[in-house]
Amino acid sequence: MQGHGREVILGVGGGIAAYKSCDLLRRLQDIGFLVTVVPTPSSLNFVGAATWEALSGRAVTTEVFESVEEVRHVSLAKKADFIIIAPATADLIARMAAGRADDLLTNVILAANVPVLIVPAMHPNMWSDQATTANVRVLRERGYHVLDPDVGALTSGDVGQGRFPETAKILQAFSDLAQAKSDYLGRRVLVSAGGTREPIDPIRFIGNQSSGKQGYAVALQALRRGADVVLVSANASLPDIEGVQTIHVKTASEMHDALHREFSQCDVLVMAAAVADARPEQMQDSKIKKASLATINLTENVDILKSLHDVKVKQVVVAFAAETSHDATAAQSKMLAKGADILYLNDVSGGDIFNSETTFGEIFTSAGASYKVAKTTKDTLAQELLDHALHQLG
Ligand code: CTP
Repeated sequence: MQGHGREVILGVGGGIAAYKSCDLLRRLQDIGFLVTVVPTPSSLNFVGAATWEALSGRAVTTEVFESVEEVRHVSLAKKADFIIIAPATADLIARMAAGRADDLLTNVILAANVPVLIVPAMHPNMWSDQATTANVRVLRERGYHVLDPDVGALTSGDVGQGRFPETAKILQAFSDLAQAKSDYLGRRVLVSAGGTREPIDPIRFIGNQSSGKQGYAVALQALRRGADVVLVSANASLPDIEGVQTIHVKTASEMHDALHREFSQCDVLVMAAAVADARPEQMQDSKIKKASLATINLTENVDILKSLHDVKVKQVVVAFAAETSHDATAAQSKMLAKGADILYLNDVSGGDIFNSETTFGEIFTSAGASYKVAKTTKDTLAQELLDHALHQLG
């Protein structure tokens, strides 16, 4: 990985591991990144501003009230390509999760819209405390990359998970982030997620088991790789992803309309949503009494992928097929029938795919290739699908 003059903000929290960040700063400079250090005020107890200024060759301030005429938090946020927070203390993590802006670093983090790598280091009890666990979960959900601390001996003499990782490990994580950031730059990715609901009456609907997790994972990974991401989300009870334009829909017809509005501007469509194949012929305005519920007349919904194929110009289209058997021939036929370029087939007969964090199946491409996907996270599958889509985009 080479920095080629890209700007990194190195945020330093008030933990003893702050001194180890001096080495991290040096290694980042070695590989060509330009680094501005923004310590928290308390971290200066461990490593002083003079050290950071000498090592970085740049001015170091900790408060928004210093160099006010530069509006430093905004100017730093604007020029940053990446932020690394190392070490991140429990308090700094809590302040970030709460969206606080009570020193220069937290102001910069809020004002910037770039990938953020967080390297926690703290006593194991603080790391495993429920508050920290919840805060880390919030940060991850918002798209921050939070490394897990190493396990080992700590300054207090205790042993456990909380150690600041070796510089090499941090650089590897940062390299993944930095490289991943760029390959979708300038691309627009449209994703559908969740499951549509077709109303029967004001109370009931025809729905399906889709949680939306796979589509959200694709949206998040595409965002991290630099794409502009539009997510059409049907009834997923997941938090919006900061930086992703999310359009909430309920029915197949609303999803159809939203996707048709967005499709012409996108480079890649990932159709992860489970779309109901049919809807009640008529939605009743009032609750249907059980005596009248013996039959519901259905009418077929439009096949959204097929309808988009008619207006497809250059877009790469990724389809999903959740089946109760692993039939490769049927999957390939479905891909071609829908005009998709890539299809992910997953066998849900075991019942542990929906709402799960993991998935397994097989990826097919219209060029006739196929790739088995052993049990993995939905994020990893998202990365693989984005790799294939990018390859086809050329
Ligand atoms: N899909 C769609 N519009 C529909 C139904 C499905 O665009 N009305 C998309 C899904 O989002 C998915 C792909 O088509 O990406 C395959 O969905 P699937 O339900 O497996 O396909 P169906 O055509 O409904 O086939 P089946 O008869 O197996 O249900």
